[in-house]
Amino acid sequence: MTTATAPRAAARVVDAVKVYGGGDTAVRALDAVDVSFPAGRFTAIMGPSGSGKSTLMHCAAGLDTLTSGAAYIGDTELGALDDRRLTLLRRDRVGFVFQAFNLVPTLTVAENITLPLDLAGRHGDREWIDALIDVVGLRDRLHHRPSELSGGQQQRVAVARAFAGRPDVVFADEPTGNLDSRSGAEVLGLLGSAVREMDRTVVMVTHDPVAAGHADEVLFLADGRLVDRMEAPTADRVLDRLKAFEVRT
Ligand SMILES: Nc1ncnc2c1ncn2[C@@H]1O[C@H](COP(=O)(O)OP(=O)(O)OP(=O)(O)O)[C@@H](O)[C@H]1O
Ligand SMILES: [Mg+2]
Repeated sequence: MTTATAPRAAARVVDAVKVYGGGDTAVRALDAVDVSFPAGRFTAIMGPSGSGKSTLMHCAAGLDTLTSGAAYIGDTELGALDDRRLTLLRRDRVGFVFQAFNLVPTLTVAENITLPLDLAGRHGDREWIDALIDVVGLRDRLHHRPSELSGGQQQRVAVARAFAGRPDVVFADEPTGNLDSRSGAEVLGLLGSAVREMDRTVVMVTHDPVAAGHADEVLFLADGRLVDRMEAPTADRVLDRLKAFEVRT
């Protein structure tokens, strides 16, 4: 349960700086970012190409390390973990959905969904996984291979896989970027119901105001900095805000 005053952060970064390269060619991809992703909420991250969205997500998720500052999953500071513990944390406490689905082509739908659990030697919660399979609507496709599915179906498998181990937080980097609008809407609906009906936490990078409209809050990045945020976004309000940024820059 979260308290009314200060919702628990499923993930957060504090004074996060990420510099790629060095010398004249150094790129400051994150420039002192403080952000908290509350548990039980759906947060979207928007901003122009190159603004640091993927970098923020990767550093918050333990896929990449910060140059300075700190990243936490729950109360665990990622910078304090050795490689082995970091690998275990990524496997057990974080879920990922990527633009390119990243399913294993030789495994069936059912095997793909439970892959993170199987790798961990965990049985997982059968009832939970069963419920997930119904939520993503894949019960009649469980023994198919990814190549036998549409893009939207493949991404629904990836969503089920991301939630299978009941991670603290699921990070999705442009999960609808390769989908037509109808399949995209289905995937966004799934992410939304995982948060609202299954008490999950989702952080999603997107370029699409319609996608961002599914979130509880939108964070706007520009040049590696958090420049704005919007509660209870709608696609129209997000679009207006993005236009306002373009005018200013
Ligand atoms: N591995 C890397 N090496 C060097 N520079 C990088 C690397 N990854 C990202 N950058 C740079 O860091 C900045 C932020 O990149 P990032 O990928 O986080 O942007 P983004 O907001 O996700 O963009 P997009 O919307 O195009 O995916 C960019 O200037 C990018 O060129
Ligand atoms: Mg990106």
